[in-house]
Amino acid sequence: MNIPDTARAQAQDLLDFIDASPSPWHAVQTCETRLQAAGFIRLEEVDRWTLSAGARHYVVRGGSSIIAFIVGQQGAADAGLRMIGAHTDSPGLRLKPKPAEDAAGMVRLGVEIYGGPILATFADRDLSLAGRVNVRTPGGFTTRLVHFAEPLLRLPNLAVHMNREVNENGLKFNKQTELPLLLGISEDGTKAEARFRQPIAELLGVEPGDLLTWELNAYDTQKGSFWGVDREFIANSQLDNLSSCHAALSALLATKEPQATCLCAFFDHEEVGSESAAGAGGSFVSDVISRLASSAGLDGEDQRRMLARSFFISADMAHGWHPNFPAAYEPCHHAVVNAGPVIKSNANQRYSTNADTAARFMAICAKAGVPCQQYAHRTDLGCGSTIGPIVASRLGIPSVDVGSPMWAMHSIRESAGVLDHTYMIAALTTSFTD
Ligand code: CO
Repeated sequence: MNIPDTARAQAQDLLDFIDASPSPWHAVQTCETRLQAAGFIRLEEVDRWTLSAGARHYVVRGGSSIIAFIVGQQGAADAGLRMIGAHTDSPGLRLKPKPAEDAAGMVRLGVEIYGGPILATFADRDLSLAGRVNVRTPGGFTTRLVHFAEPLLRLPNLAVHMNREVNENGLKFNKQTELPLLLGISEDGTKAEARFRQPIAELLGVEPGDLLTWELNAYDTQKGSFWGVDREFIANSQLDNLSSCHAALSALLATKEPQATCLCAFFDHEEVGSESAAGAGGSFVSDVISRLASSAGLDGEDQRRMLARSFFISADMAHGWHPNFPAAYEPCHHAVVNAGPVIKSNANQRYSTNADTAARFMAICAKAGVPCQQYAHRTDLGCGSTIGPIVASRLGIPSVDVGSPMWAMHSIRESAGVLDHTYMIAALTTSFTD
């Protein structure tokens, strides 16, 4: 399989993007760094906004959701909005508020399960911690991002000699008692709590007692890689859904002076249902759209005309066909890796796609010169969902659910196709000017 240099470079850029983003807070920071480098200026929700045609801005809510936009050259009531949504969070293990526990001289960190990870894939990985910590200051507290680059934690497997049926019954963990992550030995009567606080305090250069609260997840320190006979595949954590964030952001950064206002919205909390202030079920995107409309001087009538002319692409990964598990797939709807963006449909509106929006996305792909595929889940299997139906129902605008095909969704080490990422960037870029 011939992989053009541009596709290789875009896939490498995606792997770098993910490696710099071991938590949703870091994903937003990585986006912010790239947006700033491209001249986008941060807006604060507490300030008054004045926006003119061509203005490039972004706004962050809750530290882990971000919306970036370019104000179009044409009036919004006549041009509408071109929007792409994705999510910054990934399923995994999150530290509890008081995680440290002494277990016969070993320090373990208690975790909650965030979303629906494949738990077995977290065993025997070189795990570490990333996220945010609030540190006490004279005036109150300040939020600091935490990212340990080196392995700090581990969930060692039980030896096969003590788990003889593991290959017949699968690797199972009791969620309360068998998932805590091993951190170290509690020497000389040092309290487990102190062992836990010490490396974070050292990393941040603060006193251990000043660490107030945290949202920290375990992440895999192994960097992204290419694999396959032609290195036509990639592997990394969080391909679901940082691939879509990266593709949408790349599309926005490639868009110069669009006629319609172009907007990317990357939300936290998709993996747990999106119902939060910063999630897709919250008011973030509608608040930003209202402010875009007021800044353009649109009255209520024109705001609704703007929405009626808008289009939303919900970008989230799709299930690539796996030759070892043919029975898991709908026989007429294989989404093949490295064969192009996938349009996801579900009659029960688990995906927001309808016949019109699917046809529109097909036309976008044709214009971009990329192939596209259609996916439906097996009728006898429950179908996952996305932010697509949530945003579409809140805003009342036409929406399509699309994604690149991938394997092992919600594993800590997922994989996907190099060409698909390039195809998705091309399609999303075209969607902004279509
Ligand atoms: Co997803």
